[in-house]
Amino acid sequence: MRIDIITCLPRLLDSPFSHSILKRAQDKGLVEVVVHDLRDYSTDKQKSVDDYAFGGGAGMVLSIEPIDGCISKLKGEREYDEVIYMSPDGELLDQKMANRLSIGGNMIILCGHYKGVDERVREHLITKEVSIGDYVLSGGELGAAVLADSIIRLIPGVLSDETSALTDTFQDNLVAPPVYTRPADYKGLIVPEILLSGHEKKINDWRYEQSVERTKERRPGLLDD
Ligand code: ADE
Repeated sequence: MRIDIITCLPRLLDSPFSHSILKRAQDKGLVEVVVHDLRDYSTDKQKSVDDYAFGGGAGMVLSIEPIDGCISKLKGEREYDEVIYMSPDGELLDQKMANRLSIGGNMIILCGHYKGVDERVREHLITKEVSIGDYVLSGGELGAAVLADSIIRLIPGVLSDETSALTDTFQDNLVAPPVYTRPADYKGLIVPEILLSGHEKKINDWRYEQSVERTKERRPGLLDD
């Protein structure tokens, strides 16, 4: 899978893809993440990528020209399943969306900034709009990193123990059970006995019960699905 991210602040995305699981996924050749600086597609001398909104009002709007230039170039080079625009009024990202996108093909993610993008981009160049939550960020970059992370870790081979993504919170509409590590007794705070029993079936049953109980307590809405 290849993920191309288009942004006018490429440095903001240096760190998220240079460490840990996301870096290893790229090193293993399981995903290719390429960040594009929108300014490289600007056609004017000042390398500007935005302009004033027609009709007035505060805030600059990202122009269609450099965005179209970048997306057209990428589409000329390979096939893409989705051209995603990160926006607070997009479809809310959840585990199901991440699962679906992780089994799909290449994608382009466009990060908005300032007042947003020229509406013609959304109408004609974008296939899907995604929000990472009901709050407004300064731009789409952090959202793009969250979306890409949620997808990449699901690609087979990315996590060392492939089953671990299957036991994540939200898979099967359940939150994850509690986990513990050594010491078994820390200043009198003790780990549930069952986990020390070595009895695999009983441990799995206990974990499932804990997941169900926690879901009822913390996220009852998940059980309605
Ligand atoms: N850009 C600004 N706010 C955002 C949000 N909540 N999700 C995705 N992109 C955004």
